[in-house]
Amino acid sequence: MPSYSSLDRAALLKEAEAQQLRLDAFAARKLSLNMARGKPCKEQLDLASEMMAVLGPSDVKGADGTDTRNYGLLEGLPEARALFGSLFGVPAAQVIVGGNSSLNLMYDAVARAMLTAVPGADRPWSREPVVKFLCPSPGYDRHFAICKELGIEMLPVGMTPEGPDMDEVERLCAMDASIRGIWCVPVYSNPDGIVYSEKACRRLAAMRSAPDFRIFWDNAYFLHHLYPEDKPSVPEMTALCAEAGNPDRVYMFASTSKVTFAGAGVAALATSPANIEHIRKNMGIQTIGHDKINQLRHVRYLKDRAGVEKHMERHAAILRPKFETVLRILDAELREPGIATWIAPRGGYFISLFVEKGLAKEVVALAKSVGVELTPAGAAYPYGKDPNDRNIRIAPSFPPTSELVTAIEVLCTCVRLASARRGATEASR
Ligand SMILES: Cc1ncc(COP(=O)(O)O)c(C=O)c1O
Repeated sequence: MPSYSSLDRAALLKEAEAQQLRLDAFAARKLSLNMARGKPCKEQLDLASEMMAVLGPSDVKGADGTDTRNYGLLEGLPEARALFGSLFGVPAAQVIVGGNSSLNLMYDAVARAMLTAVPGADRPWSREPVVKFLCPSPGYDRHFAICKELGIEMLPVGMTPEGPDMDEVERLCAMDASIRGIWCVPVYSNPDGIVYSEKACRRLAAMRSAPDFRIFWDNAYFLHHLYPEDKPSVPEMTALCAEAGNPDRVYMFASTSKVTFAGAGVAALATSPANIEHIRKNMGIQTIGHDKINQLRHVRYLKDRAGVEKHMERHAAILRPKFETVLRILDAELREPGIATWIAPRGGYFISLFVEKGLAKEVVALAKSVGVELTPAGAAYPYGKDPNDRNIRIAPSFPPTSELVTAIEVLCTCVRLASARRGATEASR
């Protein structure tokens, strides 16, 4: 298939007709496929099944004799703090282990800053006339939902292959003191799969900003390599921020949602000693302590950083063929026509497809019309508005491979149909 840009109107009409026939054939199959769910498949959840059996009726004590069934240990079980400390690359004292959801910890961190003055702030953010967050986009829709819910204005910032557009981030932060935060998914960003460069990390740590500016460093995918032989990582941000004279700038988050069980993992945050103290005070009002039984279960099962990495290789063995299947079909269908771009990610949970300007919504609607549910176009942008209407997020993890193949073939058919139709219309002008 030659590039669409080299085709005349008649050839484009012929191509549109061929893709419409393909789509009609899919419609006749009465498909009902969902490609929107970025969650682990059953085989991945089964990998950690044995974790359910590592504790017993009389085996519920932590290493120091703590009875995990009882109240206490607000910051988490010491061995769980140590395990997350080794994953984040910080001392255990800089870690708080929470409940099952890192998103919950993120929401609480933002809400806490709205309600109580964080270190460096004169007053709670809710008393400021306006609070803004930078939102590197495309990004994670649930980060943006937190801002929307709490009345924080979102400023989109573009992504580059090295992370957020740092010239823009620095420019905005230096000129607008109402910018108090930025959302970052530094390793295998959601959805692009981009790993931030060391330079971008250093610039984030050192740039001029409001004194109570915070980086929300969401390490959701920092262990989630598809190719375990290359494990990209980013510098440890609390140290980088401290070095740059901004010790309280970053909150780092992670969880085992996509290590053990998405609905019953363990989440943690890591930050500076001053931030830990501020969080501890407030968290102590919210709870007497999180689920230490689950924390103990996780430590007994995963053991240490090496244990986690070994477990993640088993995830990679399940996920890698699914990602490669999607990439192979995208390559076969869309590369030569030149009507879409994408990054082949080395980890994470998503593939981020960019179709031609103004066509993403149409493509998603076409797929839906034949029974393939994709993430709504624009979902990865603040306020759900993709300014170019180009981005479509593909989540390969959950569907079985046979369904994945059909769904991506449908997606490619829709991209080709929409592009050929539009190309033909434009050629007739
Ligand atoms: C970037 C990112 N952060 C956080 C989460 C959710 O994390 P958790 O299950 O720990 O709440 C997800 C889930 O898809 C995610 O993609």
